[in-house]
Amino acid sequence: MKHSQDLLDDVQEVLLTEEQIAAKVAELGQRISADYAGRELTLVSVLKGSLPFMADLMRRITLPLRIDLMEVSSYGGTSTESSGLVRILKDLSAPIEGRDVLLVEDIIDTGLTLNYLLRYLRGKNPHSITVCALLDKPARRLVEIPIGYVGFEIPDAFVIGYGLDYGEVYRNLRFVGVLRPEAYES
Ligand code: IMP
Repeated sequence: MKHSQDLLDDVQEVLLTEEQIAAKVAELGQRISADYAGRELTLVSVLKGSLPFMADLMRRITLPLRIDLMEVSSYGGTSTESSGLVRILKDLSAPIEGRDVLLVEDIIDTGLTLNYLLRYLRGKNPHSITVCALLDKPARRLVEIPIGYVGFEIPDAFVIGYGLDYGEVYRNLRFVGVLRPEAYES
């Protein structure tokens, strides 16, 4: 793949602005703070794409909470398609038994990654486990996933920015956008 020196040159369309994302994250934080009042909340985020969302969301939640991080890679897929075969590169660093877990995800596409993760985490006996996803692409879902909190439903396009990458690039864009087709050409 080739990308421009100025990443903005590769963006065809801004789907969600920085301001729209910030407002939505604040709203989600308020709802989560109200829903989990008095409970033992642990936010679990999945690297690397969820990093900006996790960092912003945790600061919009007013409850005492713990955070933990996992990293997974799906293998057998391509840079724009998930395979559903998930390898855990980094596991949780503390037990979640008895805790209320909020799984913080950047985007749910086919749902295969999350389906695997939910089964894995349920095996660790949390008191509850709920998904909070910034973006949802329902048109591409292959497995039904219960999602507790969703930021935005988006159309079936490959998006980049605010943590999301194409070939590990574009994660540092402050908005969510669609790539120009030329950026996909290798
Ligand atoms: P799923 O298993 O198909 O639901 O894919 C989940 C993972 O694929 C996400 O956590 C992202 O890392 C990645 N992904 C899915 N769609 C996109 C996209 O449009 N842009 C960037 N990454 C994506």
